[in-house]
Amino acid sequence: MTEPTIPIAHPHKKTVFVTGANGYIGSAVCRTFVRAGWRTYGLVRRPEAASTLISDEVIPIIGSISKDAGFLEDLHKHTKTVDVVISCTEQLPFGEHFEALLSLFRKLAATSNQNGVRPLVITTSGCKDYGVTGVHGSPGLAPHTEDSPLQPVDIIRERALKSLDIFVHEDLFDAVLVRPTPLFGYDSSYYGLAFEAAEAAARTENRALQLPIDFNTILHGCHIDDCAEAYLALAEHADRAAVVKQCFNISAHRYDTLSNIAKALEVEYSLKGGVVEISPAHANAVVSSLNLVLGYTQFVDSTKIRRLTGWTDRRMLLSENLHVYRMAYEEAARRGHEGVLRIKERMSVLSSVKV
Ligand SMILES: NC(=O)c1ccc[n+]([C@@H]2O[C@H](COP(=O)([O-])OP(=O)(O)OC[C@H]3O[C@@H](n4cnc5c(N)ncnc54)[C@H](OP(=O)(O)O)[C@@H]3O)[C@@H](O)[C@H]2O)c1
Repeated sequence: MTEPTIPIAHPHKKTVFVTGANGYIGSAVCRTFVRAGWRTYGLVRRPEAASTLISDEVIPIIGSISKDAGFLEDLHKHTKTVDVVISCTEQLPFGEHFEALLSLFRKLAATSNQNGVRPLVITTSGCKDYGVTGVHGSPGLAPHTEDSPLQPVDIIRERALKSLDIFVHEDLFDAVLVRPTPLFGYDSSYYGLAFEAAEAAARTENRALQLPIDFNTILHGCHIDDCAEAYLALAEHADRAAVVKQCFNISAHRYDTLSNIAKALEVEYSLKGGVVEISPAHANAVVSSLNLVLGYTQFVDSTKIRRLTGWTDRRMLLSENLHVYRMAYEEAARRGHEGVLRIKERMSVLSSVKV
């Protein structure tokens, strides 16, 4: 006797390949696609990074991105086709790395095309490509949209300009470029440095945190989970033609200001001396890590992805749920999460750079 079946249409099983799969964005993207029913392959360059992927039901592929990388052979043992490729690596200098990525995507897409599937490649850049906007309350303040000119600071100039090359490979794949705002939540957020600074201030006698930054600075972030859902929304959008060859900003429904975040830090860490704004005069010399994170003012419009795909952010803003985000960050730090260590190391290098 045959088993009775319930006549529910089940969507075709789709396949995604994510680079930087143990990174902050890459790991969140992997988990989101797994939950949405996708067969998910994640590229990691260190074998020890594979165990977390395995726990998350992601299939690890081990290899480093370089012009002569051989890991596609391993991927092809699993599958010859990929519906979507998501690029989430971070490497400076960017140019050579991106050239290697493009050559890999071309090889991957060529095999996929030969087997009947044209991939969609979603590449990650960042909203900082547009530069800064005015601070909260400044005359004529307007958000950056996808049509705003690119005005990146030197350190990310190559990424901002070169990442547009993703669009010139129409012979083999469709492409989308996403630009998230600074992300928060869990372990590897740059905002973790604000928690560290407040924690250090709470151990001082006057329990005060002094910031040489305008408190009207706009900090327009997005929760990492919401950001990952945005990639899924683009990947699953029914009309691929409406998505391809486009850039999309990813930002929360509204911005925080440094003033809001300062108040939340003051309460959370019982900073009796307050989180106080001091003259920014010192900030022109060697810029501290915290100034790099909290001193970058940018208002970012994400209407385009919302209107097209219906994506929306659901998580609370950083200032609205700071206690929970702090606890998650500290727990990750206690467990020695590699993302927490990576950000600390990266920012200690950057803070000695003049910007
Ligand atoms: N984090 C944010 O708030 C944010 C916001 C907007 C845009 N972005 C952009 O989004 C991208 C990803 O950011 P992220 O925060 O997720 O970075 P991340 O946490 O530092 O992760 C970067 C990932 O890239 C991997 N990687 C670097 N070079 C590689 C190579 N040659 N071969 C294979 N893997 C390599 C790293 O592997 P290892 O672990 O082995 O080093 C790591 O998994 C970056 O371009 C970043 O600028 C980030």
